[in-house]
Amino acid sequence: MLLLRGAAEVVTPPVTSKPLSGKAMGEVERHPNTDILIENDKIVAVGRDLESLASKVIDVSGKVIVPGFVDPHTHLVWSGSREHELEWKLKGRTYQEILADGGGILRTVKETRNSDFSDLKAESLLRFNNAIKHGSTTIEIKSGYGLERDTEIKQLKVANWLGSLGLAETVVTFMGAHALPEGSERFSYINQIIEMLPDVREFSDFCDVFCEEGAFTDNESRKILEAAKEHDFSLKIHADEFGDTGGGKLAAELGVVSADHLAGSTLETIKELQKAGVIGVLLPGTPFAILSDKFSPARKMIANNLPIALATDCNPNCYTESMQFIQQLAVFRMKMTPAEALVASTINAALAIEKTDRGCIAEGWRADLLICDIPDYRHLTYHFGVNHVETVIIGGKVIDA
Ligand code: NIG
Ligand code: FE
Repeated sequence: MLLLRGAAEVVTPPVTSKPLSGKAMGEVERHPNTDILIENDKIVAVGRDLESLASKVIDVSGKVIVPGFVDPHTHLVWSGSREHELEWKLKGRTYQEILADGGGILRTVKETRNSDFSDLKAESLLRFNNAIKHGSTTIEIKSGYGLERDTEIKQLKVANWLGSLGLAETVVTFMGAHALPEGSERFSYINQIIEMLPDVREFSDFCDVFCEEGAFTDNESRKILEAAKEHDFSLKIHADEFGDTGGGKLAAELGVVSADHLAGSTLETIKELQKAGVIGVLLPGTPFAILSDKFSPARKMIANNLPIALATDCNPNCYTESMQFIQQLAVFRMKMTPAEALVASTINAALAIEKTDRGCIAEGWRADLLICDIPDYRHLTYHFGVNHVETVIIGGKVIDA
């Protein structure tokens, strides 16, 4: 047993099995002067002056405890880097122009194909540890820098290996439909993806598609996702990153677990997603990284009761592992409140990857917790650009990442 004694405040979303939306997204519970008792990987009590037989006590007086952050959308297994593209972006080249010239995703595909398994593991582990240090306790990771069977499987294996280390848990997504590989013909590559599905199923639980101009059309995306459904994958879509190009509507039609990006979604699409029970995963690091002001219309989504989660999108274009930075962007650029940003990074993010045992601090929930060196939870966003996480507890264990 482990006792966390005397936190200045314990802050948590209310216990729920459904994602929070609308007004409820902005209402976190704040428990001052509170202890948390942990047994094995679970929280067994939250309250004042807990009498304890705990073998270990951590004094958390003056500290704030929040649930571990869940990062429900990353591409963090890759090789190489693309810092030169930042200079191109500064000169006005767009994300899609860079991709169309064989840069962007296609550049990282070359580097990831050429990287051997142990190098790919080592590069990815550095990012994974960095994510944990900044508070991520469960991390979704996608493939999509292979675009052929063996490299896709290599990436999926690394993502599973990271999750097996006893650090953060991973949820793994197959994303063969990330870009059309150079030299491939569209129709035949889409069939190759569909043929890969039974082989990659043992390494991944979700299937995702980049549905966008310059990537895959809504009809192509529908074909892939319907085939994935037959293999019992849960579904996600990269949708409406640049405009309302049909991805959001397709997400609603298929009733996917989450539709991600949604920077260009119209009100009509937002309403369809809400009706279909889809969670919107917003990735404000992406417009930030492409020097765009077009952030997802979070206020409009909350006003229309679409549940929102936040994620880093960690990838070589949008290179951050920090869910704290993402919450700060959500507040400063999308006008979400600090409470909404916390809910979107904990319970709603967990449900966006179908995890129902984490994201809240209450009896019976998984002991994924962050001890933060701040006087009030709102400092997580108010005081930006620094790491407030002092200690990370995952599954009841203090993690040294
Ligand atoms: O979610 N949009 C597509 N995929 C990633 C970017 C990947 C990359 O640029 O390497 C994203 O933004
Ligand atoms: Fe992405």
